[in-house]
Order: sequence, then C-alpha cells, then structure tokens
Amino acid sequence: MIPPDLYGRRRRDPFWVAVSALFGARQRVRYLRPPAVREIRPVDRTMDLVVLEVRPRADGVVSLRLGAPDGRVLPSWQPGCHLDVLLPAGTRQYSLCGDPADRRAYRIAVRRLHGLSAEMHALCEGDVIRVRGPRNAFPFLRGDRYLFIAGGIGITPILPMVTAAERLRADWRLIYCGRGRDSMPFLDELAGERVRIRTDDEHGVPDCGDLLGDPEPGTAVYCCGPAPMIDGVRAAFGSRADATLHYERFAPAPVADGRPFRIELRRSGRVLEVPADRSALDVIKDELPAVAYSCRQGFCGTCRTRVLEGEVERRSPSDGDDGAMLICVSRAADGRLALDL
Ligand code: FES
Repeated sequence: MIPPDLYGRRRRDPFWVAVSALFGARQRVRYLRPPAVREIRPVDRTMDLVVLEVRPRADGVVSLRLGAPDGRVLPSWQPGCHLDVLLPAGTRQYSLCGDPADRRAYRIAVRRLHGLSAEMHALCEGDVIRVRGPRNAFPFLRGDRYLFIAGGIGITPILPMVTAAERLRADWRLIYCGRGRDSMPFLDELAGERVRIRTDDEHGVPDCGDLLGDPEPGTAVYCCGPAPMIDGVRAAFGSRADATLHYERFAPAPVADGRPFRIELRRSGRVLEVPADRSALDVIKDELPAVAYSCRQGFCGTCRTRVLEGEVERRSPSDGDDGAMLICVSRAADGRLALDL
C-alpha cells in the first residue's frame, strides 16, 4: 500500500507514485524476457594426485593413500564411491575405502591380478598418478538395518559403509569371506560381534543362500565381491519385496541372450566377428589393446564409441541414443555395426 505523503495528506505522494511505476515496469520487463538458457558444461574431475603412502594389507594387496600435490582439500565423497585411475596402459576403477571425513587423502586398495594392477603395485611414495572422480555407482542409502556381504577385495566399498552404518547407530552385520585370512585385507580394522569372518580354508566354499540367510524385513543387503558370489546372492535373494539388495561387481556379468554380430572398425579397416557370449569390447580389445574402457559394465561411459552405421541394441540405461554406444555391453540389433575405431 502506498503511504500518505510526508504531510499526512490522504492523496498519493508523487514520489511514491514514481517509485511504484518504475518498480512495476521492471517487474513486467523481467517477466516478458525469455528465461536465460544456462550452458551446461561437463565437469572435468580429472586431477593429479601424489602417492602419500603405500602399505601392504594382505597377500598381493596394497593400500595407497593419495593426496593433492599441494595438500589442498579433495572433492568430497560418500561410501560406495570409486576413483578411475588413468594409467598409461588403461583405466581402472578402485573403490574409496578410507574415511570420507578425511578431506586431505583418498585411500584405495589394489589386489595384484593383471597388468594394470601390477603397475599400481609398482607405485612408490611421491609418484604422481592421474585420477578421475570420485563417482558413485554403488550408493549407500540411509537405513535402520544392514547386512553387508563382502568377498576378498570386495571389502573395499563395504568398509566405509560399515563405518557409516555404525555412525547411524543402525543394526548392521558384516559377513566377510575370503580364501584365507592371509589374503583378506583390512581384517585389522574389523572386529566385534557384528563381524563374521569366513574363510574357505576354515569353513569351505560358502553357500550364498547361507550367507544371505533370511534377512529381517527392512534390511538393506549390500554385496560386493567376485561374480559367482554376487550371482549366488542375487539368486538366493530372488524377488523378495521386504528387503533390498544392492551389489557391485568387480568383473562384468556374463553376456545374457547375446546373438553374434559383425563389427566393422572403419578407421583401422578391420572386420571382427563378435560371438554370442562375448562383448564387442572384448573382441575389439584383442585387436586394439589401447581401446578405452573402465567398468566393463555399462555405467562409466569410458568405452562410448561413435556408431557410423547400423542399429544398436542398448543394454544399459546409461547408453543414450546419441549416435554412439557403450561397446562393453550394447550390441548390434540387426547383425552388423560400423564403428569409428
Ligand atoms: S567400460 Fe564403462 S561403460 Fe563401458
């Protein structure tokens, strides 16, 4: 409401009339103007980190603490996050297994398995490596009751989840399996009656149905480990609706219902046959070992490749129809594809 003028007269004060007119015009102009289109730029989360510490954790397993060369604070992360480590020979993902509250260092653990992990094991304190992330493909959701099932190096994403569950004062249990105690990292950080350590040499190969048991309604089951363990837990979990199952694979799932197809690599002039039980990436890798890939499960996007011809059968929700495809999971819909490789 416009107030009376300075002398208390009941007519509209010319000063306030002018201010209202100006303000009203500005509002009108604002609403008439089309909304500004903000340019969305992809965030580059690539950074160089220095190895602060290398520590043996079990037979064939070392942990690495990584920090910024200038000691600055690192991007935050949540339990379940991983880093892509970009090495000359390729990219690999490693779960963050330290404390998210420590903003000066990330901790990862590496089991020596293949060429890239050997490169990781050769790192020394002071070496600098390039990483991308952190990214989360295995989110930990707040809840009241958890069952964690970890196999071997699969303990890495589970470790910060256990800490988070403890901080939430949730009702949690962990079953940690491995071949033998010598091969199981971070046993020294896991103790108490909520933790059950189960080794093949003491108890035999586990039955996944026994590991899962009959979780109470409302339990969130988090499982990470070798593919047979995950497949077994998934099969035992079935379609029950009173609990939830979350899992992360370290190895890609076998190809299901695949049909053979042919791929033409236009840049390198090769034609390859992809059998029903292999991915395009696996076949291409045999010919072009430097082809980019990381998760091999269709979620990181590293292997996205331009499609020059042919129809794609998309096998991942992350594989958008943008003239490219994730060659680690998606396949040809009509028997043939031409790729920009
Ligand atoms: S390698 Fe990650 S999406 Fe294909």
